[in-house]
Amino acid sequence: MSQKAPIRVLVTGAAGQIAYSLVNFIAKGDVFGTDQPLDLILLDIKLMMEVLGGVVMELKDCALPLLREIVATDDYEVAFKDIDVAFLVGAMPRKQGMERKDLLTANVTIFKGQGQALDKYAKKNVKVIVVGNPANTNALICSKYAPSIPKENFTAMTRLDQNRAMAQIAERLDCNVNDVNKVIIWGNHSATQYPDVRFATAVKNGATMIQKRGAAVIAARKLSSAMSAAKASCDHIKDWWFGTGDRWVSMAVPSDGSYGIKEGLVYSFPVICTGGDERKYKIVQGLKIDDFSRSKMDLSAKELEEEREMALSVCKD
Ligand SMILES: NC(=O)c1ccc[n+]([C@@H]2O[C@H](COP(=O)([O-])OP(=O)(O)OC[C@H]3O[C@@H](n4cnc5c(N)ncnc54)[C@H](O)[C@@H]3O)[C@@H](O)[C@H]2O)c1
Repeated sequence: MSQKAPIRVLVTGAAGQIAYSLVNFIAKGDVFGTDQPLDLILLDIKLMMEVLGGVVMELKDCALPLLREIVATDDYEVAFKDIDVAFLVGAMPRKQGMERKDLLTANVTIFKGQGQALDKYAKKNVKVIVVGNPANTNALICSKYAPSIPKENFTAMTRLDQNRAMAQIAERLDCNVNDVNKVIIWGNHSATQYPDVRFATAVKNGATMIQKRGAAVIAARKLSSAMSAAKASCDHIKDWWFGTGDRWVSMAVPSDGSYGIKEGLVYSFPVICTGGDERKYKIVQGLKIDDFSRSKMDLSAKELEEEREMALSVCKD
């Protein structure tokens, strides 16, 4: 039996389809290790409490030894209290006919509220991954309303895009996915992202169909990517928690001005995570950016600047 004190892990959108895979991955030790007990806090909206109750039943029925307490709630104070890690998966979905601005506006309200709750109730060293779309800008808004928590603790997920790229390359080269390294996703988790394989090892040729993969999964499954998104969010947090060694991973993080990307934009860069007690990450520096890459990277940055402007225009304070 582990001697470690339990950590508190929050999953929002806990009644949704990503969370349905994610909570099991987390609770069986895939992210924080098989010797790390944890309390799992599951947040969703009031309307979903019955469904969430079913998820709790199943989690209990998994008989997972690391899982101590399970809390299902729609109350931010209960959900965010003393948490060590937040998987912010829940978001307002894009409905038919909805303009991008409407989607951003709805999500600003959600992520402003969750930022304020993090500021008020969470541990000051809480690590945050935003999965809910538009993930990069949601992370930016969340951080804006949590000024007592370091900006670098707010990240957004582009790991699914990286994993998709690595899997495609491995398939094409008939090698193991672990043998593929240094694949980079630059920019926004959107169609303007730039999957960059120029530095990849174990790769012979060209970029793949990464930007369109999400649509292909929807077409086949009639539902959006969920298991792979859950796995990717676990990879993101596990690497941040334990470190990457010399592997590069892509994370959308607040820009420090690296590669000419405006400071503060939550932009996907290649990073190395140092692990240890500090759990820091560093943007990989010194990569040569050719003209083609520059134009792709700038296009995604421009989209993020527009999103930031739109999102901030609906923030009243
Ligand atoms: N970054 C990525 O790579 C990536 C990949 C896949 C999906 N996503 C995004 O992840 C999000 C979740 O996807 P899903 O398939 O699980 O969706 P889903 O619709 O199945 O579940 C979303 C859940 O969030 C809940 N929710 C809505 N507002 C909430 C709030 N304010 N607080 C707490 N919960 C709230 C809903 O009630 C629902 O249960 C979507 O925004 C999706 O676009 C991102």
